Amino acid sequence: MTAPVLEVEDLRVRLRTPRGPADVVNGLSYTVGAGETVAVVGESGSGKSVSVLALLGLLPARVATVTGRALLQGEDLLTMPPERLRQVRGPGAGMVFQDPMTSLNPVLTIGRQLVEGIRAHGDVSKQAARSRAADLLREVGLPDPERALDRYPHELSGGMRQRVVIAIALSNSPSLLIADEATTALDVTVQAQIIDLVEKLQAEHGTGVIWITHDLGVVAGIADRVLVMYGGRCVEDGTVDDVLEHPAHPYTRGLLGSLPDLAAPAGPDGEVPELTAIPGLPPPPTDLPPGCVFWPRCPVRADPRCETEQPPLAVVGSSGGALPHRAATWCAEEEVPRG
Ligand SMILES: Nc1ncnc2c1ncn2[C@@H]1O[C@H](COP(=O)(O)OP(=O)(O)OP(=O)(O)O)[C@@H](O)[C@H]1O
Ligand SMILES: [Mg+2]
Repeated sequence: MTAPVLEVEDLRVRLRTPRGPADVVNGLSYTVGAGETVAVVGESGSGKSVSVLALLGLLPARVATVTGRALLQGEDLLTMPPERLRQVRGPGAGMVFQDPMTSLNPVLTIGRQLVEGIRAHGDVSKQAARSRAADLLREVGLPDPERALDRYPHELSGGMRQRVVIAIALSNSPSLLIADEATTALDVTVQAQIIDLVEKLQAEHGTGVIWITHDLGVVAGIADRVLVMYGGRCVEDGTVDDVLEHPAHPYTRGLLGSLPDLAAPAGPDGEVPELTAIPGLPPPPTDLPPGCVFWPRCPVRADPRCETEQPPLAVVGSSGGALPHRAATWCAEEEVPRG
């Protein structure tokens, strides 16, 4: 096996808030292999965005304290000097957010932004960079790419802007691509085009991908592995089949609608069309419960340790695959209570 593109070890993020310190990421460890796609799922507020922003040094230092290790091809992102980090973003790691305006400069044309990105990281003539820029826009499905190069972000629709951002992120064939709800606002056809493009990039360049999404259809379609976050922790991870077909953590089972107690109407063929709403609210990061983070909302709670002792992320079941299926719960083997 080749070395992973990204190795995250015990990542922790504490934010300074008016309500006191908020522990929003609490000891996250995972790897992303070359060419591999890891989907990150979890309810709103579970720390998905903060955990990836922390990796790329995009959290303001005056509010965020980040600890742990995050090796991008062996180099620790969390300790590298800011100028090195700026060099690394682009060819090393590209990131796409849900809102394209966070990444685009409103006063520069699309062409200028793409061309600058391409030229900053490679010895390319202006002419060649411009033609590569037009090719990229074509590949992300932008109509009339030559003309789009001379336009400003506000002259494009939201969906087109997002495709431009994705083109910029892909322009330097990064070794790691982080997509945070990147295609959520796009229609399904465009979303499928973008996913194809990312898969092509992965096949050609071995790009590792972290794909944050609420869309289980996307997860099932693109991910090799799934990481489920709750309360700033990884509560379950494993191959897509393991996690989606045999969820072990009561939280994951709740999200997938496979806890009868949480009353999710199953789709046709028993398929789970989307993430299910779980009754109750996640714990505030300023006041995480002792014991299992999910305990206060959990309908299973079958172990005396649930309330008092934090369950380690441990291997569950036996898929027989090379990748372990892990869950942080005392109740992986519990029968689901019939409500
Ligand atoms: N700038 C900030 N200041 C204070 N708290 C913040 C800040 N940004 C995020 N948080 C808190 O950190 C926690 C994690 O937020 P994060 O944005 O990572 O969640 P998420 O999993 O990405 O959710 P979503 O699915 O809604 O995007 C939340 O409790 C949020 O309120
Ligand atoms: Mg988010």
